[in-house]
Amino acid sequence: MTTIESRVHIITGATGGIGSETARQIVGAGGRVVLCDRDSGSLEALALELGDSAVCVVGDVTQASHLEEAVQVAVSHFGRLDAVVANAGMEGVVAPLVNQTTKDFLTVLSVNVLGVFHSIRAAAPAMVEGGSIVITSSVAGFIGSPGLGPYVTSKHAVVGLMRNAALELAAQGVRVNSVHPGPIDNRMMRSIEEQAAPGNGQAVKQAFEAQVPLGRYGTNQEIAALIGWLCSEQSSYCTGQRFVADGGFLAQ
Ligand SMILES: NC(=O)c1ccc[n+]([C@@H]2O[C@H](COP(=O)([O-])OP(=O)(O)OC[C@H]3O[C@@H](n4cnc5c(N)ncnc54)[C@H](O)[C@@H]3O)[C@@H](O)[C@H]2O)c1
Repeated sequence: MTTIESRVHIITGATGGIGSETARQIVGAGGRVVLCDRDSGSLEALALELGDSAVCVVGDVTQASHLEEAVQVAVSHFGRLDAVVANAGMEGVVAPLVNQTTKDFLTVLSVNVLGVFHSIRAAAPAMVEGGSIVITSSVAGFIGSPGLGPYVTSKHAVVGLMRNAALELAAQGVRVNSVHPGPIDNRMMRSIEEQAAPGNGQAVKQAFEAQVPLGRYGTNQEIAALIGWLCSEQSSYCTGQRFVADGGFLAQ
């Protein structure tokens, strides 16, 4: 078994709410991280904050070569690759399916599905026994959500990717799982709330919260803790599974 101190992680969507907190928690526990995001300014600031345990690669997950570069950086800079958090994602345009354009639909699928495929394909050959791939799906990977058709489609699709990768990589000793957050108190939910009711996002938030048995949104920290556990060898017998953190929402 490896300890967190020796483990090297790639995190995509690293400067976002969940990605940045995941990086902080992993580095705080002694791990090392390759931060990958297309937002170069925030990426450099986060790498500076995290110090020697972090390096960054400006990358767009829709471009396979950018993930290949992140893998090369993990191996050349830190000497190994243990875990990948395929976390980059976007919410897309909030509108009924009949009003979604083909371009907008494909944009969401390119980031949320193709990006995960690129991450797995680039990383798996470099990963060592005991490795772990964690895909950030959503409760929208279990159920529909009116107005979020492209997003819901993408978050269901990555469950198929997760299961297939888990079966194909088990012989290599690499585990693959997905995490399924409910609404999290960060930029993405602010965008969804404002798109659903321009100028009245707070009312949408209250309506969402009323549907959560725990009565509140989750935090980036709560999702990062679950991702960190799945990345580590604490979860060594878990593969091919969906892990939900939703305040009880899906239990209804
Ligand atoms: N916020 C929520 O309520 C919630 C709920 C369930 C699941 N999720 C999922 O969690 C993951 C992280 O999202 P978040 O909540 O931190 O939101 P966020 O918007 O703060 O973070 C998303 C990150 O992905 C990056 N990104 C987007 N497109 C990219 C691309 N093409 N290449 C590289 N990076 C790209 C963004 O720059 C951003 O840093 C996403 O997959 C999201 O769908 C979020």
